[in-house]
Amino acid sequence: MPNTPLHDRYPQLGTAPVPIEPYISKDFYAREKEHVFKKAWIHVGRIEELPDSGNYFVKDLECIDSSIIVARAGHGELYAMHNVCAHRMNRIACSGHGKTRRFFCRFHGWSYGLDGALKGVPDEDSFFDFDKLKFGLSRVHVDVWRGFIFINVGEKLEQSLADFISPMYASIEDYPFEAMNNCYSWKAVVNCNWKLALDAFQETYHVAYVHGNSIADALHHDDDGNLKPLDGLCGDYHRRLSMAGNINSVYGNPNAATDSDVDATNAINSAGGSQLIGAEALRLGKGGSTFEASVKDLPKGLNWTNHPDWAFDINMVFPDFYLSLRPNYYQAYNFRPLTHNTCLFDTRVYYPSTKTVGGRFYQEYMKVVLRDVLLEDLSTLEETQAATETNIMSHMMLQDSEIMVRHQYEVIRQMIERGEAS
Ligand code: FES
Ligand SMILES: [Fe+2]
Repeated sequence: MPNTPLHDRYPQLGTAPVPIEPYISKDFYAREKEHVFKKAWIHVGRIEELPDSGNYFVKDLECIDSSIIVARAGHGELYAMHNVCAHRMNRIACSGHGKTRRFFCRFHGWSYGLDGALKGVPDEDSFFDFDKLKFGLSRVHVDVWRGFIFINVGEKLEQSLADFISPMYASIEDYPFEAMNNCYSWKAVVNCNWKLALDAFQETYHVAYVHGNSIADALHHDDDGNLKPLDGLCGDYHRRLSMAGNINSVYGNPNAATDSDVDATNAINSAGGSQLIGAEALRLGKGGSTFEASVKDLPKGLNWTNHPDWAFDINMVFPDFYLSLRPNYYQAYNFRPLTHNTCLFDTRVYYPSTKTVGGRFYQEYMKVVLRDVLLEDLSTLEETQAATETNIMSHMMLQDSEIMVRHQYEVIRQMIERGEAS
């Protein structure tokens, strides 16, 4: 555990109460769209969703006032473009996934290649001074980091995706993302500001209360019963929090279900007292996956404090991408703004494929536990938003382990300030 407060390491963040205006103001959200979302790299999906030439998906992104098509073309290259016909602005592709050789506009039949180039125009000769080469779909920047597809709609790139990600996450990029090809997902529209939802996932101060009857026992508590992170890192944009687990629990021993060297008897016995199905899932899950890695096999940057009871990290990839990497699965969530006080909570959890019934049982068990934990997290958000909008409070107090909430406020505030100054 850190001997000194995390805030001591980041004096530039200060310790003052943080304004709540960014959570309730329409004007602030408009400024966020302009200076944060329209300039940042935004995570939109995984490369496995576009396995072949012609595969595409559409993302309706209110936070950038656009709908974006991401497509894989003939030689495997990826293209991303605004979903707006270059003739009279009809939408080209419907939401969701698909496979095609051309994008056709249903209004007057213009057609576009997978790279957005204009290919066909009915009755082309009746246009005036018409140069087809100038009328493709409007492209946006697209790049991939470890299989995660990001887009950036800024006209001029302020930095490459690699330069954006690497300072904070180069040490974890050897994580075996490709081995985790079994994806579970849930989506929920939540009536709260996107940051209010995200905040509930970037501190663990709430765990003993919101999750008191579910997974609170899975995390390490100090001698006073407080649940503190092992460490926290705040970068120029991103942030990380490292957590220790209770290895005598189903959820808090990341090796228990996978590493055959690990004696999970304690976890099984301890869970068996109150969580009979959990204990059974742990017992049956061993050896049931096509891929197994224990903490010692993973990139050293994951458990950067090298703590023996490390359980997981929270990686907040700016602005709204939560990535939590564990030995036998990882979680990838987006907290996507829809309006100033609504957001889409878009969750995905990736496991390896299973090879035994027991392996499947373990994953199904973990899946429903996580679903219930997420519902617990969502349970406070809408009431908190409504209470925040009463304006009874103008600022919020944050304690040391809520440093990531403070860091987020500062990064966004500074981006808006920089954007407005230029
Ligand atoms: S608006 Fe698309 S072809 Fe006319
Ligand atoms: Fe939570």
